Amino acid sequence: MSEVQAIILVGGEGTRLRPLTYGTPKPMVPIAGVPFLARSMERLYEAGITDVILAAGYMPKAITEYFGDGSRLDMRITYAIEETPLGTAGALKNVEEHVRGPFFVFNGDILTSLDLRAMIQYHKKKGGVGSLHLIEVEDPSAFGCVVHDADGAISAFIEKPPPGTAPGNDINAGTYLLEREVLDAIPAGRPVSIERETFPQLIAAGKKLYAHVTNDYWIDLGRPENYLTAHRDVLAGIMPLLVEPGITGEGVAGLRDRRGIVAPVHLDAGTTIDPTATVGPNVVLGRACHVEAGAVIRESVLWDDVRIGPRATVEESILASGVCVGSGAKVGAGSVVGHGYVIADGVEVAPGSRLSEHKK
Ligand code: GDD
Ligand code: MG
Repeated sequence: MSEVQAIILVGGEGTRLRPLTYGTPKPMVPIAGVPFLARSMERLYEAGITDVILAAGYMPKAITEYFGDGSRLDMRITYAIEETPLGTAGALKNVEEHVRGPFFVFNGDILTSLDLRAMIQYHKKKGGVGSLHLIEVEDPSAFGCVVHDADGAISAFIEKPPPGTAPGNDINAGTYLLEREVLDAIPAGRPVSIERETFPQLIAAGKKLYAHVTNDYWIDLGRPENYLTAHRDVLAGIMPLLVEPGITGEGVAGLRDRRGIVAPVHLDAGTTIDPTATVGPNVVLGRACHVEAGAVIRESVLWDDVRIGPRATVEESILASGVCVGSGAKVGAGSVVGHGYVIADGVEVAPGSRLSEHKK
């Protein structure tokens, strides 16, 4: 099994991340300045996986323009753009012609330290039609609950069980290694869910699916609170991604004074921070952000070209590119502000707000 291919599912609309995903598709949302999908590609490359199929649909241009044919990354990228969403199994059936043998499937919104080479070994050893990466969570109701025996053999897959009804705590962590014959079980020409249809059908037909349970770092980035948690974990080094935790990034070189910087903080190139401002802990500033005198930013992620006016405060929030926060304005915890939105001087944004210029 030398050449395992990879299919990455990136067709979802990212509704739970709105308004961020009005201007940026979920896979291109940055993790410490780099599109999440680019970070995933790096992980694949390191595991020796260079033949990648991207099953996209929503805002595909942002993806195709960034990655092209993959040669810049020394990879081969094939795109399949769905005009209407085909579902998580329909998307696989749709790229059947490009699949030559066993293949990985990745949900496109998972940040994890899973060792892909170890998963290939596991799959070989078990010899089933598929191996599913599982992790244990306290409340499986937002996930696919997977029941398996001590040998790993899976006997049930229950997508989003109503709270309190899940038969166990191991959940589908969104990485599968499948044999090509799994594609035969997916009907063509209509949307099909791998979680609700294909996996239950394979189990009912007696096909062997195995559980690869690990205790890796794992988070689904599809919710704003998880997006902030993921950054906190990356900044703390719990999820190994940055070279070393502390005060990191190309923007550090431009700092005139570090007194107001509370680690951990990541600063991208071209950011400027007034020495009287307080930035951190757990703050990421994208490229060319400007933080003016007396401003305070805590526990927040700002994308590129964001301007924080004098004495403004931002707490536990996500600000997309081009956002302007006026002088003395306050952005309350849990807020998400979409591309280019302007918060006027002195305005107090209530905690948990969603602000955007987007007109539906
Ligand atoms: N190409 C394509 N077409 N991709 C799709 C489509 C589609 O029609 N629908 C969803 N996707 C992609 C999304 O972009 C995302 O990367 C992935 O498939 C999973 O979709 P989500 O919408 O994020 O699903 P979820 O988070 O509610 O649940 C899934 O992930 C959980 C782990 O985070 C399920 O697989 C659960 O079983 C799992 O536990
Ligand atoms: Mg998800």
